[in-house]
Amino acid sequence: GLSTAAALARRPSMTGAVLRSAVPLPPPFQAPLPIPAVLEPVGDGRYEITQREAVAEILPGLKTPLWTYEGTFPGPTIESRRGRPITVTHRNELPVPTVVHLHGGRTPASSDGYPTDLVLPHGHTASHAMHDPRAVVTTLTRDYTFPLDQRPALLWYHDHRMDFTAPAIWRGLAGLHVVRDDDEDDLGLPAGDRELPLMICDRAFAADGGLAYPALDPALRERPGVHAAYLGGVLGDVILVNGAPWPVHEVDAARYRLRVLNASNARHYELAAVTDDGRPVPLVQIGADQGLLAAPVPHHRLPIAPAERYDVVIDFSQVRPGERVRLINHLGADRTRDVMAFHVTRRAPDDSRVPDVLSTDLPTWRRSEATTVRDFSFRAGHTPHGRGWVIGGLPFDPTRTDVATTLGATEVWRLIADVHHPVHLHLVGFRVLSRGGRPPLPHDAGLKDTVSLRPGEAVEIITRFDGYRGRYLFHCHNAEHEDMGMMANLEIT
Ligand code: C2O
Ligand code: CU
Repeated sequence: GLSTAAALARRPSMTGAVLRSAVPLPPPFQAPLPIPAVLEPVGDGRYEITQREAVAEILPGLKTPLWTYEGTFPGPTIESRRGRPITVTHRNELPVPTVVHLHGGRTPASSDGYPTDLVLPHGHTASHAMHDPRAVVTTLTRDYTFPLDQRPALLWYHDHRMDFTAPAIWRGLAGLHVVRDDDEDDLGLPAGDRELPLMICDRAFAADGGLAYPALDPALRERPGVHAAYLGGVLGDVILVNGAPWPVHEVDAARYRLRVLNASNARHYELAAVTDDGRPVPLVQIGADQGLLAAPVPHHRLPIAPAERYDVVIDFSQVRPGERVRLINHLGADRTRDVMAFHVTRRAPDDSRVPDVLSTDLPTWRRSEATTVRDFSFRAGHTPHGRGWVIGGLPFDPTRTDVATTLGATEVWRLIADVHHPVHLHLVGFRVLSRGGRPPLPHDAGLKDTVSLRPGEAVEIITRFDGYRGRYLFHCHNAEHEDMGMMANLEIT
């Protein structure tokens, strides 16, 4: 029972359609902020996750059917240590094939979740899936092995099936994965209850409580204009943090470390923290997608594109107990302007710190070291399924090698876009060299795996393809764009 009609607001297709929920929305800052449970290992470095349908009460009094990891949305958080490999066995009890990708993981290709490496649903036979000639690897359960030989960082795992990633993530197939190490633990950053993961995403709700999504609803799919709306990416009118609508969290008047992920399919945010009387509270960035920065960078507004992560420290000791600090979205309108609130309840001791030097191991690749410079345009274009999105003029084809490189090669990529495209590379982190012909912006700092391309603005990145040989991907992380062709193969030999 997914989604009866939700009215589609008329918006230009290139920027995405905002789905309007067909149910009354609750006032903001009532629901407590959920913290996803940490997944317990079933053995030394071994985890099991069952993918199954579940029903959750996301909006008060409404039952929302979801696709989940382990029955919850977000899925359980995996906590791991740098250099200690883990294996996660996924069992698929959903009605469809799935693929799991650890976003930001330095993962051998066989466990990276290539879009046709399917985990078949139980009760289905392999021959059933083989009707799709592109499905090259199919199993009923699948062991994903992650060496985690990488910088400590907030990663996330999510579905990655070819052509169907966006609706699968929308229905709930996303969870967090935190990699830690001793060096980071020793910095004295806010920790324990004062470290909060914040998975931010938007959704819309149909009259029956189900999640509204154009392609999930046969009635909607047939309506003219729906494909065009879907083309730009799907946006909802409800902002969820860790699965709760506009939640509130009680905090001490102390420093907190917020580990922010934009898990939205297509929505960009520009985050700011403000007190109820309008005073800004700075967000001090300490980390990017791939871990700690060299030094903290304070922001008043922090743009965050789909799949990007920011590690920020916010100091609530500047706020009087009893006051509230709202996390707001400057790009939102009406209800999507609010994200969540922190209610500062009491003074409390705080021995945390934000050191001036956070890390000294960031790669310092220089332009002169690059052996190859490549150009990629990310634009609207023609695909076998009609209008879609293409990289360098070509829609995704799992049989084509778009980039062939060698292990250890350092490359500069020049990326240019027609509209906003958050571009993600699997396996490697990269650094932003320039944006629009100028030095990178403050939020481009550090080691990233996803970079936000803005309309018409060229972005240069530099990376080194070390780690593993094999077939990887790069793609737009607007999940609808990704499903509509904007993905390419990267072969490391
Ligand atoms: Cu977050 Cu290719 O994915
Ligand atoms: Cu895109």
